Amino acid sequence: MSTREKLTVALASDHAGYPLKEALIRHLTARDIDCIDCGTNSTESCDYPAYAVSGCCKVLDNDADLTILCCGTGIGMSIAANKLKGIRAACCSDVFSAKYTRAHNNANVLCLGARVVGEGLACELADAFIDTDFEGGKHLRRVEMINELEK
Ligand code: RB5
Repeated sequence: MSTREKLTVALASDHAGYPLKEALIRHLTARDIDCIDCGTNSTESCDYPAYAVSGCCKVLDNDADLTILCCGTGIGMSIAANKLKGIRAACCSDVFSAKYTRAHNNANVLCLGARVVGEGLACELADAFIDTDFEGGKHLRRVEMINELEK
């Protein structure tokens, strides 16, 4: 992933995703994973695209290995994140998808819906995403085809 000693995950949310982001930071910190908190920092209403950018910039600037974004559904965050060149964001609510979007799509951003998944499942989704490596091979060719679409 990087030359960093410890895995680093950036997390960002809007107001709807804020409590879930906080729970994920507690969970990942307990796993000895470095977390970068990109806000928001309360349940006061705010606009998720701004936080999608803040979270994704950490991966794009190589300050983090992966990013997790939380909003109400996870969908708004994923739509916004996927507008950024170099971002492959997946909105997941099942563990199989969270695992295989790393293994096959080399996704670098996981989007979670705080109004869709509970904290326990969200932590399992984050674990599956973080603990799975890209398989490369034929999947690399396909990801490169996605990269071509950005040009
Ligand atoms: C905020 O109410 C909500 O629209 C937002 O968190 C997200 O679900 C958008 O996709």
